[in-house]
Amino acid sequence: MNKTIYDISNILIIGCGGAGLRAAIEAKHNNLSVKILGKRNKNDAHTILAAGGINAAFGNLDNEDSWLEHFADTYFEGYEIGDPDLIEYMAKNSPQHVLEIDKWGANFSKLANGKLNQRYFGAHKYRRTCFSGDYTGQSILKALLKKVEELNIEINDSEYVTDLLVEEGTCFGALSFNINNGLVTTHLADAVILCTGGHTRIWSKSSSRKYENNGDGLYLAFKAGCSLIDMEMVQFHPTGMLTPDEIAGTLVTEAVRGEGGILLNEEGERFMKKYDPERLELSTRDRVAFANYTEISNGKCSPNGGVYLDISHKSKDFIIAKIPKIYRQFIEYQMIDISKEPMEVAPTAHYSMGGVYVDAFQHSTQINGLYAAGEVSGGLHGANRLGGNSLAEILIFGKAAGKSASNYSKNLNSVVRSQSVINNAQINLQKRIKKGDQLSFPLLIKLRQLMWDYCGVVRNEEKLKRGLDEVKNIKRLLEEVEVIVSDGNYQDLVNIYDLEASLFAAESTILSALYRKESRGSHQRSDFKDLEGSFKFNTLIKNKYGELKCDQKPFKKMNKNLVDTISSIERDIDIKNKLLE
Ligand code: FUM
Repeated sequence: MNKTIYDISNILIIGCGGAGLRAAIEAKHNNLSVKILGKRNKNDAHTILAAGGINAAFGNLDNEDSWLEHFADTYFEGYEIGDPDLIEYMAKNSPQHVLEIDKWGANFSKLANGKLNQRYFGAHKYRRTCFSGDYTGQSILKALLKKVEELNIEINDSEYVTDLLVEEGTCFGALSFNINNGLVTTHLADAVILCTGGHTRIWSKSSSRKYENNGDGLYLAFKAGCSLIDMEMVQFHPTGMLTPDEIAGTLVTEAVRGEGGILLNEEGERFMKKYDPERLELSTRDRVAFANYTEISNGKCSPNGGVYLDISHKSKDFIIAKIPKIYRQFIEYQMIDISKEPMEVAPTAHYSMGGVYVDAFQHSTQINGLYAAGEVSGGLHGANRLGGNSLAEILIFGKAAGKSASNYSKNLNSVVRSQSVINNAQINLQKRIKKGDQLSFPLLIKLRQLMWDYCGVVRNEEKLKRGLDEVKNIKRLLEEVEVIVSDGNYQDLVNIYDLEASLFAAESTILSALYRKESRGSHQRSDFKDLEGSFKFNTLIKNKYGELKCDQKPFKKMNKNLVDTISSIERDIDIKNKLLE
């Protein structure tokens, strides 16, 4: 590898998606030096895939809406294991963050009176989701990048972070290599904020693309000494594309259903009538994903093994105005005009609801000076995330983590540094480069397939144990993986780190899924079909002498004021209605 250089900032942010950018803006507003590292093109962060919208209880169309209603939908549809303090903070603060990003250039759709337009999204009682067509994530990302540029914040989006630097329980930076030229950099910082996304690329059908969401941030945090919460809670989006193979799993936004799209099986039956007669296609994601999965498993599937999503009853003008990206996506990849024909769709791994365990008020982790925000962190969504809450999450908690990290930095009297920790991180990196008779990429593909087969929409002990054995078999091969670096080619090194992180994320998910012997939200077990009161806890993956151990922590109760207020909110849906018969 090339020589090592040093770099110093007050706040180091790992990840250049929405959460990372919003955290950086906040730290810069606090007059601190800030640096952002990313491993993929900053204009193409995963944020752009949250297409359909961002939630804020403005009540612009349904004036009964309020932050309390947003809280209630999020908390109860998350099956009551989400952190109520995180949810309250999100529901109360979302409107101001949505107005701010619109002012910065996100250019959301407006009503004739100039207020923000709002659409229906699954399981929201009211129209609460603000949007720019079906490019909402992209327009938010663009607005954030513009702000970051105005503030002269440096982004280096070709850096792969291999280790966080931690001494005596305090994080003081990170080590990275440049994926284009191999230059190794030791980044020293007062505080580090992880905004690295989730781990849903480790399933063969995923709405994530190549080289994103391999669980690398989760693994960095775990190696640094953090615990992970609710790793079994993985959201399968009901509607991913089926063909062509190279893009199988690509998201077909919920906005299609929000704008009137209906789901049909091969027999032309509008099957959501059986699964949720009230809310139909706008039921919760776990229910719609489960319904699609069941229809497909029962053989009532389309030629390519999916169900139909049909919006052809709407005019072409309407479709192009409301969901232009999806219109183009189907023309480009399948030569299908969705104003004339239905789409074929099937569940796809979409979002990690679990992640790094953080304090609800500081967004700090269990390591001093280390913060986490966005999909890499856990606890907000409980067992089922409402669509549109992820874009709210990245802005709100990106800013909150930026603020807490800034306060931490400003109040530091002395900094921790350790040359031996830095040396070890460099040695760890060098050790990866070796001869061998295995290659990372085929092992990654094998891992993704086994996660789909053994830890997918519906799980059971037998499948999970088999999956765990196979993950461990692949892990044993790590020592034999060949990693060759040459001038201008460091891809093998990226792949081995992605593989290690993916294996870690897979093991954490399976262990947590085995631990939760019940069905709750997105975690459906055919051997434990009921939601059990005694399982109202959060799972934790902890580091026990280098081994992963799954444990539980009692769910956090709502504060007393909220308990009294929430009783005025009426709920129509009983979350104990089970999905599996
Ligand atoms: O379907 C969607 O547009 C996804 C949005 C989300 O995951 O929040």
